[in-house]
Amino acid sequence: MRNRLARIFKHGDNRTVMLAVDHGYFQGPTTKLENPKRTIEPLLPYADSIMLTRGVLRNCVDASNDIPIVLRVSGGVSILKQDLSNEDITTSIEEALRLNASALALSIFVGEEHEHRTLVNLARLVDEAERYGVPVLAVTAVGREMARDARYLALACRIAAELGARIVKTYYCENFDRVVDSCPVPLVIAGGKKVPEYEALKLTYNAIKNGAAGVDMGRNIWQSDHPVAMIRAVRAIVHDNATADDAWQLFNELKTNENREVLINQ
Ligand code: R5P
Repeated sequence: MRNRLARIFKHGDNRTVMLAVDHGYFQGPTTKLENPKRTIEPLLPYADSIMLTRGVLRNCVDASNDIPIVLRVSGGVSILKQDLSNEDITTSIEEALRLNASALALSIFVGEEHEHRTLVNLARLVDEAERYGVPVLAVTAVGREMARDARYLALACRIAAELGARIVKTYYCENFDRVVDSCPVPLVIAGGKKVPEYEALKLTYNAIKNGAAGVDMGRNIWQSDHPVAMIRAVRAIVHDNATADDAWQLFNELKTNENREVLINQ
């Protein structure tokens, strides 16, 4: 267990840049993730771990790559249905071990129609995974009607930790330090819908400043026109204590160099 967690939090600062590319499990070919291999490959050198389903892992990530795998093991829904909380466990523990997962990820939907099932699924998954020393990351999924405020997110994160999650993924919100303070395990934040790069960097900075252990970020990285520059800028905040302005400057420098290289190669 400690070794697997150390692979995810591997820089000795107890922080991590987790690259989330699991969106297809209910969204299908999401914008800029239509061809996962093409999106993922250039980003891998800058991610501490990658969060994805077994299908994308098998087909789009070379097995020789040593990146720690955070395997999404819940699903069973699509964006075509209203009841997104109707998830179940979709991958067995044996399969996860065979795929050499460093952690398993499952969504819980607190306050949603299928709250009970997703919470019991989390507890069952924790029971199975702990037997083999595999940490479980709980994704505090927020339904369409739920507010993303500190009161609600603290409730969802605390329940996830109480049920045995070793890492919790949530959203940044005002008074985020209250969410961190009441959750006894590391919190990583999702980026959410794509926003301008500077805003996403500010969000990352504020989350880290208020106690997040890192990011589990997807769209704000790979939906950027400069995904490599973006993940490197996010990384600078998480691991090098860069401010949002430092990271923004880095992003622009890397973007300019990238554009120059494209021109030279034309
Ligand atoms: C839900 O689709 C997934 O768990 C994502 O991995 C999560 O929402 C993080 O990705 P993003 O930063 O795009 O919100």
